[in-house]
Amino acid sequence: EMYSSLFVQSMVFNNKVKYTAVPLEADDTPTKKTLCSHCSPYLTKKNISAFVIILILSTAFFLVACIGGNFQSKVCSDNNSMHLISKPQNKYHMQKNLKIAHSRRRLPHCIIIGVRKGGTRALLQYLKIHPDIQVAPDEIHFFDSNENYSKGIDWYRRRMPQSFDEQITIEKSPNYFVDWNTPSRVKMMNASIKLLLIVKDPFYRAVSDYAQIRENRLEKDMEMEEFEDLAIDPISGNVRINYKAINRSLYYIHTKRWLKFFPLDQIHIVDGDNLVLRPFEEMEKVETFLGLRHYLSDDHFVFDRKKGFYCIHRENGAHKCLNRTKGRPHPKIDPDVMNQLNDFFEPYNQQFYELVGKTFKWPKAVGKRSLKRKH
Ligand code: A3P
Repeated sequence: EMYSSLFVQSMVFNNKVKYTAVPLEADDTPTKKTLCSHCSPYLTKKNISAFVIILILSTAFFLVACIGGNFQSKVCSDNNSMHLISKPQNKYHMQKNLKIAHSRRRLPHCIIIGVRKGGTRALLQYLKIHPDIQVAPDEIHFFDSNENYSKGIDWYRRRMPQSFDEQITIEKSPNYFVDWNTPSRVKMMNASIKLLLIVKDPFYRAVSDYAQIRENRLEKDMEMEEFEDLAIDPISGNVRINYKAINRSLYYIHTKRWLKFFPLDQIHIVDGDNLVLRPFEEMEKVETFLGLRHYLSDDHFVFDRKKGFYCIHRENGAHKCLNRTKGRPHPKIDPDVMNQLNDFFEPYNQQFYELVGKTFKWPKAVGKRSLKRKH
């Protein structure tokens, strides 16, 4: 019985067959239990178990690293491979994220071209709520920087977020609006691209522009002139048209340049003042322009009294406001300078309304708290 499973050697003795059992291993070498008698000696249960454990651990590492978005390796960011979209934005996204699906980095279907301080970040964050949209979190400055542009279109594509086939990709770089090279370069990439331009009361926008530069300079212990001195030439008393904060508010001039390359129906103009007051109303128009289903509702926005602006309502009851650099306090401005600037902007505003076939209520009333007291 002891040898019953062993190889049996046969001998012929006196015409009778005598069977003698022979042990399988004649020497003392320990037996390696392979899975089958013909298999490689390495194909042991032990080896296979080790291989399976390593495989499970590396797959788990890959999933955790890529889902968490902390692992910026080629494995996670490769162009056409299987992916998980990182950082779920809402329940709908979460369901999508849970299933591994084909997603790719695509060139943008739509670009927010500006204007700086028009409310571009708020617009982008609100668009991000929509399940059919993926946004590039950073300003890429591809078209307005010769250095970046020379890196080529694939460099640009690699900076785009992963998106599914049914989603559209949006990036924002507010300097595109005033950059001379950008319109032709965008057209060369995609002549049918959709463009979003968000504008605001030109005077208020210029002060907001100044406030941002002022804060950045003061943080670096640099000096900063008063807004009035930068905006008005103290000798001639004329408005300094080339002062950037003023020049960027001449929407007519910059929009006209864009319209040499793109038809008006490819540019949707968002009312930045209304986006502050009634975000849902403006976003509904943007969804229509982008050809997307109407997903955003009033419930997505909640007014935060402390911030003084609308913030994004989260499903857990909390809400997310833009950071402290959005909605910063403005310096008080001399009312005479404000009036002079509003008069200066007026003809440009009228031409802008005509050009885009839309009227804005500029100059909007500026609260007394924004003005210096006259003695
Ligand atoms: P201020 O900070 O001067 O008030 P951008 O994102 O293009 O730089 O624009 C910034 C401006 O967005 C802010 O200018 C603010 O007026 C406006 N804005 C619009 N909606 C906002 C929101 N929900 N929270 C904060 N700022 C908002």
